[in-house]
Amino acid sequence: MIKIIVGTNRKNSVSKTIAELYQAILKERGEQSEILELENLPGDFIENALYENNGKHDLYNEFHDQLVGGKKFVFIVPEYNGSFPGILKTFIDGMTYPNTFRNKKCALVGISSGIGGGGIAMSHLTDIFHYLGMHVLALKPKLAKIEQNMSDNLLTNRLYMDLLQTQADMLLEF
Ligand SMILES: Cc1cc2nc3c(=O)[nH]c(=O)nc-3n(C[C@H](O)[C@H](O)[C@H](O)COP(=O)(O)O)c2cc1C
Repeated sequence: MIKIIVGTNRKNSVSKTIAELYQAILKERGEQSEILELENLPGDFIENALYENNGKHDLYNEFHDQLVGGKKFVFIVPEYNGSFPGILKTFIDGMTYPNTFRNKKCALVGISSGIGGGGIAMSHLTDIFHYLGMHVLALKPKLAKIEQNMSDNLLTNRLYMDLLQTQADMLLEF
């Protein structure tokens, strides 16, 4: 069971649409997946689930445990201010240190409104995951100018679809 993480808590995010698309691509390949949305994090987790409160917030723990149970992940990473969203780092900072991601595997998909495609955001995140001992798949699609390449919740850019399909194949073998 692959866990697909929507890397923002913004409501009606494009990241969520891409996560659903990715889920469909995995399903075509006979692979079950589950989408985890940072939007569903409890609103008070910053105050009541981090640091000295680690492990004490039931709702946060539920979300946290869903991740801990996974072995392979896909992170949909929107580019926010030249990096990945702060909420994703805050969520990572709330996870049990240092073992949550060790020896696990993940694939990253970057998206942006501008021309970067989340390339730098994915580099930043790759540094962190490598530090935590998680293996990051080498192919990291950069879906730039995302709004111009989508219609009716589908990717209209053939190259983008090819990249996601190739990445999904690689992730299944990873
Ligand atoms: C707080 C914030 C910062 C953003 N910063 C950038 C940026 O630095 N570069 C860029 O190309 N797009 C930026 N965007 C646009 C997002 O990358 C774009 O909306 C993204 O592809 C989809 O994000 P979503 O999943 O929140 O819908 C930003 C959006 C938000 C909400």
